Amino acid sequence: MLRRMTVMLGVLLLTLFSKGAAADTADNYTYANYQQVTIKHLNLDLAIDFQQKTLTGFADLNLNWLDSTETTVLLDTRDLVIKQVYAKAADGSWQPAPYSLAERDPVLGSKLTVNAGFQAKTLRIYYHSTAEASGLQWLSPEQTAAKTTPFMFSQNQAIHARSWIPVQDTPAVRLTYSARIQSPDDVLVVMSAPNDPTTARDGDYQFTMPRAIPAYLIAIAAGDLQFKAMSEQTGVYAEAYILDAAAKEFASTQAMIDATEQLYGEYRWGRYDLLILPPSFPFGGMENPVLSFITPTVVAGDASLVSLIAHELAHSWSGNLVTNATWRDLWLNEGFTSYVENRIMEQVFGVDRAVMEQALSAQALQDELTTLSANDSILHIDLQGRDPDDAFSGVPYTKGQLFLMYLEQQFGRDKFDPFVRQYFADHAFQSIDTATFVQYLNTNLLQKYPDLVSLEQAKTWIYQPGLPATTPAPQSDAFNQVQQHANNWLAGKTALNALPTQNWTVHEWLYFINNLPMTISQQQLASLDAAFALTQSANSEIAHAWYLLALKTGYQQIMPQLEQYLINIGRRKLIIPLYKQLAITPEGLAFAKKVYQQARPGYHPLAQGSVDELLLKRD
Ligand code: BES
Ligand code: ZN
Repeated sequence: MLRRMTVMLGVLLLTLFSKGAAADTADNYTYANYQQVTIKHLNLDLAIDFQQKTLTGFADLNLNWLDSTETTVLLDTRDLVIKQVYAKAADGSWQPAPYSLAERDPVLGSKLTVNAGFQAKTLRIYYHSTAEASGLQWLSPEQTAAKTTPFMFSQNQAIHARSWIPVQDTPAVRLTYSARIQSPDDVLVVMSAPNDPTTARDGDYQFTMPRAIPAYLIAIAAGDLQFKAMSEQTGVYAEAYILDAAAKEFASTQAMIDATEQLYGEYRWGRYDLLILPPSFPFGGMENPVLSFITPTVVAGDASLVSLIAHELAHSWSGNLVTNATWRDLWLNEGFTSYVENRIMEQVFGVDRAVMEQALSAQALQDELTTLSANDSILHIDLQGRDPDDAFSGVPYTKGQLFLMYLEQQFGRDKFDPFVRQYFADHAFQSIDTATFVQYLNTNLLQKYPDLVSLEQAKTWIYQPGLPATTPAPQSDAFNQVQQHANNWLAGKTALNALPTQNWTVHEWLYFINNLPMTISQQQLASLDAAFALTQSANSEIAHAWYLLALKTGYQQIMPQLEQYLINIGRRKLIIPLYKQLAITPEGLAFAKKVYQQARPGYHPLAQGSVDELLLKRD
């Protein structure tokens, strides 16, 4: 009897927990009680202090109370100094509101608890950020190209908004925002809100973002920025040294917008501008609405790396319009975006290039999967309490893309394209989780056109590790030819000048370098280098691939150039694999530590964190 009751209790508990939808879909990376109260609108009034490396002023939070009995607001902060909190009552009066700042958690930061004792319409929080803000980088004039004016920029994704704004820092909450930002006169401030290219440079700037976005898409940058139009709708902000080159490099941006609108519906954000950041920008790009933030390392001179623009633009649909509700659902942002990116590339640059890019990504994923745990190869990843930054990989991107390519192949574009278009329309300006997507997919695609893909198959892609046997394998004729030529040369059947490199695009070079065998001789490496000056390549991706190969095969001639590369560039994707490879041998590690000493002050806090982890916190 007792035993039976225990079993029944067990079953009851199991059902309770497995049905604990809240537990499964809640964002574990926020302190916010966003089921009770949400921020509708944020108004920032901040002054930029380049000496102190602070943003100082106040934030007004307009609140929407969902729970009639609640009066407490829980907010996310990290390394903020909170000066004073006021609450606006129903009669419009401002009253000091009791608040407390909890102890700092290394991942989440410090919970800010505000309880006015009533349901405040608005909270006004006086505060300043500190030099430690993980979401801001401060560059001295010497660290910029012209060396005359300081520069600062934000990078909020995933959970760094809280390091400069007291906010509900969860992608589940969407808010509109406005801002008044004061700066030194010679500095132009831009934000992820409509920017006026003709604004007076008077050190006092106003912004209004009328569309509701999550906090990770609030962005700011300030520096000696110039503007150049590319089309009526698009333009570039950059430091003068790279303005013309960037506008030329990214001249296809308007064509990309047009192509995406054709495929997936209206672009809903008005203007689309690019901001070219200093080389220390830790990412390739960041899809801040209306103003994508872009690394200068893709200004290659031949538009070979513009898929990055297609990617950030694609986020205007997948990510900014339809947003992952938690960081476990990142694949909804990045997988869809990688897929849409490639569709844009196909439309604007042709199918051969699009397939080459698919093949390069797929190969990179295969390589990366050998280094990842089974858990980390799941699209709906269990972050296991880690900082979302530390669980970052190619899985949400390329496995997500391959899943969507698989669906496209099974259903055909005539059915799949309208499905994706409708998916964006039906969830516009919403934050959704993976379970919501699965249900939508099941109703609007799997069941609508039965017997092509089962729900079970779709769930395997989303909830199981690794790549299913049915994974699309992109086949590029161009790459197959490169492989044949390479094989012949490696086998000594043909001379180096038989490689038809005059016709190779950057993609073919990347494929060639990435697929050279580890058994390649020093002499072969030296002759490649002599013929094609790979060590000196000005293309950041080719140089990266070549340096990685050189480190793996012990080709020492790259070392002086590698040193410069690691000092000049702070984009994590380009430098982390190199530091990792260096750290494998004692001599490599010593070299890496020496170079890093020089490079570290110029790196973004995020890049510093990653490289510190690799080189300094090893023993
Ligand atoms: N949104 C991402 C960057 C990001 C993702 C920052 C997750 C923090 C957490 C951006 O759109 C991106 O994917 N950038 C890539 C571009 C690439 C895949 C074309 C990058 O920076 O390398
Ligand atoms: Zn992305």
